[in-house]
Amino acid sequence: MGKVISISNQKGGVGKTTTTCNLAAGLTKKGFHVLVIDLDAQGNLGFSVGADIDTCATIYDVLKGSTKTQFAIQKKETADIITSSILLSGIELEFTNTGREFLLKEAIGPILDNYDYILLDTPPALGILTINAFTAADTIIVPMLSDIFSLQGIAQLYETFERVKKYCNPNLTISGILLTKHNPRTHLSREIRGTAELIARDLNIKLFDSTIRSSVVVSEAQSVQQSILEYAPEHNISKDYLQFTNELLAKGI
Ligand SMILES: Nc1ncnc2c1ncn2[C@@H]1O[C@H](COP(=O)(O)OP(=O)(O)OP(=O)(O)O)[C@@H](O)[C@H]1O
Ligand SMILES: [Mg+2]
Repeated sequence: MGKVISISNQKGGVGKTTTTCNLAAGLTKKGFHVLVIDLDAQGNLGFSVGADIDTCATIYDVLKGSTKTQFAIQKKETADIITSSILLSGIELEFTNTGREFLLKEAIGPILDNYDYILLDTPPALGILTINAFTAADTIIVPMLSDIFSLQGIAQLYETFERVKKYCNPNLTISGILLTKHNPRTHLSREIRGTAELIARDLNIKLFDSTIRSSVVVSEAQSVQQSILEYAPEHNISKDYLQFTNELLAKGI
């Protein structure tokens, strides 16, 4: 049965989509069968992997029950994908029925056995879509920038995690925090890592040993709709994401 991983942080621009895409690429490279689901109305993930974002059925159709999950899956080089739709932005008001936290969990139930990993790219908010992701997931990975404001947001994310764990998904865990756009050479980045370790320890969350460095190659790869692993396999960022993939596998995630 596939392991479901939610890549989440309510802060925008921390590398959720980049991490989802390149972790998927790393896992695919290792021979695993991977599905990514874009739960963000912005649709960045679908664009990043070169999916059809205009005509194919989306996760919105699936959550609404108008399309079977199997029929929304597109096969791409990086991984299989279910894309998002701008209509997801209205979901908070549209889906008000009891049990709405479980829509995604129910939707992926029939395809769980078809994959080794299902990665969920979530929007920069702790609303109903992220709650659906937490309810459907086995574990959460939190990409985080190495700055002080990012650290402040973790407690809020943790609160949502605890609520979902209590009411919807008792086995949910947080695998760890992944520092992104990290420059290990600067004094500030080292200091932030230290602070992040303290905050994480307080909340009983682990900080991954791997970090992702910063480089323009990330936006270059996105603009040609490839993962960094395909676009620049020898680049530092590819090495960082491969090392992160290995760390996850070594930790049995
Ligand atoms: N390691 C990196 N080095 C340099 N730029 C990066 C890196 N990771 C991501 N970026 C850039 O930062 C921006 C935000 O990245 P990304 O879209 O992955 O974040 P996000 O958390 O998914 O954002 P959102 O909250 O809007 O969904 C993008 O323009 C991306 O190209
Ligand atoms: Mg994103």
